[in-house]
Amino acid sequence: MVNHTYLDYGASSPIGEDVINTMVDVAKNYYGNPSSKHNDGVEAHDIIAHARKTIMDYIGGNEDDNLIFTSGATESNSIAIQGFCRAYNKVRIFYTPLEHEDIIQAVKYCTDHMSGVSSCEIPVDEGTGYVDIDGFDNLLFNARLKHPGEVFLIIIQLANSEIGTIQLSEILYDVIREYDDDDICIMSDITQYLPYYRFKAFNPDMRMCIDIVTASAQKFGGLKGTGFLYVNSGWDIDPVIFGEQGVRGGTENVIGIAAMETAIKHLDKTMEVKQKKLLFIYNYLKKKLSKIEGVEIIGDPFDRLINNLSFVCNTCDLSAQQIVELCNESGVSISAGSACHNYSSEPSRTLLAIGLSPEKANKVIRVTWGEYTTIDDICTFLDVYKEILAIHSKK
Ligand SMILES: Cc1ncc(COP(=O)(O)O)c(C=O)c1O
Repeated sequence: MVNHTYLDYGASSPIGEDVINTMVDVAKNYYGNPSSKHNDGVEAHDIIAHARKTIMDYIGGNEDDNLIFTSGATESNSIAIQGFCRAYNKVRIFYTPLEHEDIIQAVKYCTDHMSGVSSCEIPVDEGTGYVDIDGFDNLLFNARLKHPGEVFLIIIQLANSEIGTIQLSEILYDVIREYDDDDICIMSDITQYLPYYRFKAFNPDMRMCIDIVTASAQKFGGLKGTGFLYVNSGWDIDPVIFGEQGVRGGTENVIGIAAMETAIKHLDKTMEVKQKKLLFIYNYLKKKLSKIEGVEIIGDPFDRLINNLSFVCNTCDLSAQQIVELCNESGVSISAGSACHNYSSEPSRTLLAIGLSPEKANKVIRVTWGEYTTIDDICTFLDVYKEILAIHSKK
């Protein structure tokens, strides 16, 4: 695309040359069905086994744990939540209102349609969306007191796509640990976190173990329609898509899985250099935005994803959607909240949950950047944005 500035990495990231080379190689040379017993099938099967090992090593899984390849985080979340509720008799789900829509809907479905399943929302702080530690503690305490014998599924995303809030701090984990017995399973959607930080399912420094992990490859340089679901060996997930392959039936997407492995290796190789660059862009953009009259950062301005800034201009009456369209006309891609929210005219649930009015929530735009972003891209956006505000702001 000519004269195009892409600042929507939170929705999807570009695919690197190394991933494209893997795709082409596997598509050309490894077309056997991985379930077939002849050499072509075995070769395809080996590609999957190799990718599984690479990804497991990267996220710190053990040999006995389960890594299921899926079509993305949406499917991973759906399988995890439904599969968990099918596997255990009495399940209470705790979830934050900041979770991705697929989680909210899966929780609602299981609560409404499956016997023995109940759910409650974890309170979050106004303004930032961090879990309200005391409120969460009370919730767990009362649930344990009133409903002994229930298995708890605690769902807290690691990073939020719209406001960049990073959760699961040590203090939050301390609260969970107070109640820790064999009946508490922690699940985290790490889709927005994985591309920008190193992640281990078991973090020995924090003595923190995330039992179920979900992610989407399109956010870290892999292909759309691929992702994974990690499940610690201590927990069961019943199948949701039936077939011969266990929890998730159907012939595996060999090309997508191999591409995801290459994308993970690329993350491993480039992470620290990339982090420095993204942080530099973050500080630069934040400083420039602070000089524009009426601009207000949404979420925690200091401690958030290093590739994410969401903001409103309080002197401008345009909706986020209108600003996105005007930017697009000038060749700049940004988003109004999360990409998944762009289908809806309702204000974002996340933004309402952190205390924004519906009017303000509908004005929030999100700029997200990544590996291939340059300072020139940011300057182009700033020029376009300032021009829009100059025309449409109240004097
Ligand atoms: C936190 C989070 N979870 C899940 C998803 C869904 O990912 P996919 O559409 O690739 O399945 C997204 C996509 O934006 C996301 O940001």
